[in-house]
Amino acid sequence: TVIVLDFGGQYNQLIARRVRECNVYCEVKPYTTPLAELKAMDPIGIIFTGGPNSVYLDDSPHVDSDIFTWGVPILGICYGCQLMAHALGGQVTEAQDDSAREYGKTQTYYDTACKLFHGLPAQGISWMSHGDYMAKVPEGFALVAHSDACPNVAIADETRGFYGVQFHPEVNHSENGVAMIRNFLYEVCGAKGDWTMEDYKNTAISAVREKVGQGKVLLALSGGVDSSVVAALLAEAVGKQLTCVFVDHGLMRLNEGDEVEAAFSKWDINFVRVDAESRFLLKLAGVDEPERKRKIIGEEFIRVFEEEAKKVGAVDFLAQGTIYPDVIESGAGDAAVIKSHHNVGGLPDYVDFREIIEPLRLLFKDEVRQLGRELGLPEYLVSRQPFPGPGLAIRIIGDITKEKADMLREADFIFRDEIAKAGEDKNLNQYFAVLTNTRSVGVMGDGRTYDYTLALRAVTTSDFMTADWARIPYDVLDKISTRIVNEVKGINRICYDITSKPPATIEWE
Ligand code: XMP
Repeated sequence: TVIVLDFGGQYNQLIARRVRECNVYCEVKPYTTPLAELKAMDPIGIIFTGGPNSVYLDDSPHVDSDIFTWGVPILGICYGCQLMAHALGGQVTEAQDDSAREYGKTQTYYDTACKLFHGLPAQGISWMSHGDYMAKVPEGFALVAHSDACPNVAIADETRGFYGVQFHPEVNHSENGVAMIRNFLYEVCGAKGDWTMEDYKNTAISAVREKVGQGKVLLALSGGVDSSVVAALLAEAVGKQLTCVFVDHGLMRLNEGDEVEAAFSKWDINFVRVDAESRFLLKLAGVDEPERKRKIIGEEFIRVFEEEAKKVGAVDFLAQGTIYPDVIESGAGDAAVIKSHHNVGGLPDYVDFREIIEPLRLLFKDEVRQLGRELGLPEYLVSRQPFPGPGLAIRIIGDITKEKADMLREADFIFRDEIAKAGEDKNLNQYFAVLTNTRSVGVMGDGRTYDYTLALRAVTTSDFMTADWARIPYDVLDKISTRIVNEVKGINRICYDITSKPPATIEWE
């Protein structure tokens, strides 16, 4: 294990991902974690992350100084580097002159005799983001990289295994940054590189077996990637002791319910599929306000789930598909609520369980997908694009009826089908159709039509917080438009959404 000690920087999750990409297991721990707890993890190395503070201020994050006599190699990044310098007798000050303050891409020169830079080019671009400056390097450290403006971009004390870099090797803009992290892990910490998804799968299965014992487990399966992978892991680990409740609210994409059911048919578990379409549609009838739709669906979902849970009776564990970014981010400042993104309005009240089990707590999204593949889930489930919990309800603008849902399902299917055929799916992070509540006049054959307008939405994004509209080739859009208007009764006009986020959001509601 490698510990990524978190000082609040914006790229901390990225550091952890990079370490795991090097086939080394790591965990992110807050800098406040007691040293004894860190020692108990028996790490082969520690990475201090960046952070927004200045080390010389009294209230900025610090560490127990015994961490430096423990004998474990440390790599300090940005704030982490300054913290190490400060703690070991160096001096960090605010950069007085603008040239020592560096932001963005910086040409940097490396001493390739240093283990951190072994085998790498002697110069390259690094990504800087610091306003502080190491005025005095601590005793025992050598300068191992510099830029045109700054003489001490990286420091190293190779006897103690301490390294510090002012730049961010974890971001893509830093050339060979991952190779430097790899060097730290392999050359300095002596990592074996044995973190593979297959090992992880086996370890996770045994861990679940040990925890669950003869107990019963209940899971609400949504059909999304996370809950599907949890279901597969539990199915593999405890089989019949698992009950999966799959609530089909009737607002899924075409064939989705059947696909989810089919994916789990190979395991001998209690798979309960609840066809609740009419219940949900009844509750949603006449509702056109987006947040009301979300609330109704969230609440009704809980009711249905509770009813099924009552039939199962008392269980020992309630399983959840919490993943690592949720764990790390929880507790981070509260941003304004633009949309309530929670599928379920909290935990069900009347489900009788003893403990929550979250077997994906330590995995990033792409690792969850990889685990799903290891567990033999089909690719269409594992690489599924995000789909909102309220489903098509928030893609039917205005009030919802079964006819509209069917129309949208068909059109959305054609859109996805043509995107896949054109090979465009690799370039898109999310794409779907929206049924607007606008009708317009058209002409088909000799007749006049007065039908619905459908909008197509396709975006590229890395974090779904910001997004750009995708430049799908015109001829692909043309084919999609022609097919939808010809094949889906009730739609006579197609628009393509060319707004980015912000100012728009990805979904229309
Ligand atoms: P927006 O529309 O806010 O969407 O740009 C960002 C991402 O979140 C998804 N989304 C939801 N997911 N329940 C969900 O589980 C919701 O109510 C919900 N609303 C939006 C959206 O599909 C996109 O991936």
